[in-house]
Amino acid sequence: MPSQIKPTDRIFVALDTTDIELAVSLAQHLAGLVGGVKMGKEFLTAFGPDGVRRVSACGMPVFLDTKFHDIPNTVASAIRAALPLQPFMINIHASGGRAMMEAARDAVLEAESPRPLLIAVTVLTSLSDQDLDEIGLKGPSQDRVVALAKLTQSCGLDGVVCSPLEIAAVRQACGPDFKLVVPGIRPTWAAAGDQKRIMTPRQAVDLGADYLVIGRPITGADDPVAAAKKIAEELA
Ligand code: C5P
Repeated sequence: MPSQIKPTDRIFVALDTTDIELAVSLAQHLAGLVGGVKMGKEFLTAFGPDGVRRVSACGMPVFLDTKFHDIPNTVASAIRAALPLQPFMINIHASGGRAMMEAARDAVLEAESPRPLLIAVTVLTSLSDQDLDEIGLKGPSQDRVVALAKLTQSCGLDGVVCSPLEIAAVRQACGPDFKLVVPGIRPTWAAAGDQKRIMTPRQAVDLGADYLVIGRPITGADDPVAAAKKIAEELA
């Protein structure tokens, strides 16, 4: 049963670029048509808080894909430093452990209302079961994802990032209110590119995704506005 979020609000467009003018132009054109934009390490390292402010000035809610992973005090301080940007959503790595996640949660709770959603990355989808073995984590990866999602929930965070193929298992383990943020989304009419474990927007939402992170199917389209509208229609 899909959560009650407006179809357009589910879509977060990944601004994976070091071209600030392109990022601002996309944000201007997509404002009101999608739920927001996601800025990750590439954008944040290149443009920092000023870049985020320029994009959010277009009226776009912002998902700061910071993926913090450090000692609890440092992560909590970094979250506090991000709060003036008033992100809609911010993330950390669940593998940083309970103390780190709880410190991040406490920092987020200091935000003015509405506070950002605090989301954890479980297992990077780029890691195979063999990679997990090499870093001392026992596979299969889906078991690790579910275990880390449960830990995330018990630390009081709002949800996790997961691949389309993990939606059903995490939803079942963590219940209806835990937010699932899902990249690897491809409409039938878009190229898969380097994404391997893909699903259409409709399939992902029907399985229980709350927010969809979509990059190239929108940003790489000849007409990004038309592509965003088409995806929203498919979700309606
Ligand atoms: O262009 P595309 O739709 O593949 O972009 C997906 C976005 O989601 C990128 O910013 C990518 O870094 C991010 N992401 C992902 N898979 C993950 C975590 C994040 O594709 N497991």
